[in-house]
Amino acid sequence: MNSVFRGRDFITLDEWTKEEIDTLLEVSKDLKRDFAMNKPTPYLPYQTVFLMFFEQSTRTRNSMEAGITQLGGHAHFLDTSTMQVSHGEVAKDTAVILSRMGHAIACRNCFWGIGNAYLRDMAKHSAVPILNLQDDLYHPMQGLADLMTIQEKRGGNLKNLKVSIIWAYATTHKKPISVPLTQSLLFPRYGMDVTLAYPEGYDLPEWVIEKAKKYADHTGGSFRITHDQEEAYKDADVVIPKNWGSWVKNPSTDVVDAGLEANKGWKCTADRFALADRDCMYMHALPADRKNEVEDCVIDGPNSIIYDEAENRLHTAKAVMALTMGGRGR
Ligand code: CP
Repeated sequence: MNSVFRGRDFITLDEWTKEEIDTLLEVSKDLKRDFAMNKPTPYLPYQTVFLMFFEQSTRTRNSMEAGITQLGGHAHFLDTSTMQVSHGEVAKDTAVILSRMGHAIACRNCFWGIGNAYLRDMAKHSAVPILNLQDDLYHPMQGLADLMTIQEKRGGNLKNLKVSIIWAYATTHKKPISVPLTQSLLFPRYGMDVTLAYPEGYDLPEWVIEKAKKYADHTGGSFRITHDQEEAYKDADVVIPKNWGSWVKNPSTDVVDAGLEANKGWKCTADRFALADRDCMYMHALPADRKNEVEDCVIDGPNSIIYDEAENRLHTAKAVMALTMGGRGR
């Protein structure tokens, strides 16, 4: 295993080996225990992480800001509408300059066809790690917290755990595909039996499906697609019903369209949730579109682990920063 994490970009978990992800999880658990014990963890004294946000955030921003403070450093929150990038400054110039002033650049840019390319462009020119706070393809901070939460509830060996990633109706905004995409690429690496369920038109890219199936073949898990939501709920150990936009088939930025409205029935109801295993866990990265994506009795019910999942965003973000930051130049 490569034990040199310092200076590494964190853009997709797909570029981290399973052993490296396991180390991230172990450090996350240590940091969570220390936080509960009120034990100081000043691993990054006087270090600066820049947080560039092209979009809104509650969990990601606050897990990073609180996290770096708890590690002894400081975050600069940068609303990109107030930065010169809004006047056309290129990624190279922003990355070179911020990396001369601090120790990591974290960025959320979910614009379809732009976000991941923007982060990659910054990574090419930055002297410090680029940390992905969600782009159009990946949300590795969320994926790591999801995995940590599932392990906390079900133990370290997740082989053949039945996890269903299920599309759900929502009207709040045209959500990125980065959460289901990240989960589809990550969970099969841990041997889970993953079902991806969605109505016609809400496909993930073909290369993601091919890769997910390859991972599943390698670990003895499985990865399958269905367009029948009841089938996805049946006997599941974990369900993750969540909206994502039809970016792959229809890159228009319209939030509500005929395709969306035709699938209003894709909702996590009590009746559908009852099809799952009696101990099935309900997960959601949040924010949830309550009453559209899910009925309150499920999201607020005894099997919902959404708040543990959201809390783990703090501990996993701290692990990512503690391992990748700490030096300048790479
Ligand atoms: N899950 C997640 O990334 O939440 P925010 O959009 O609030 O950061």
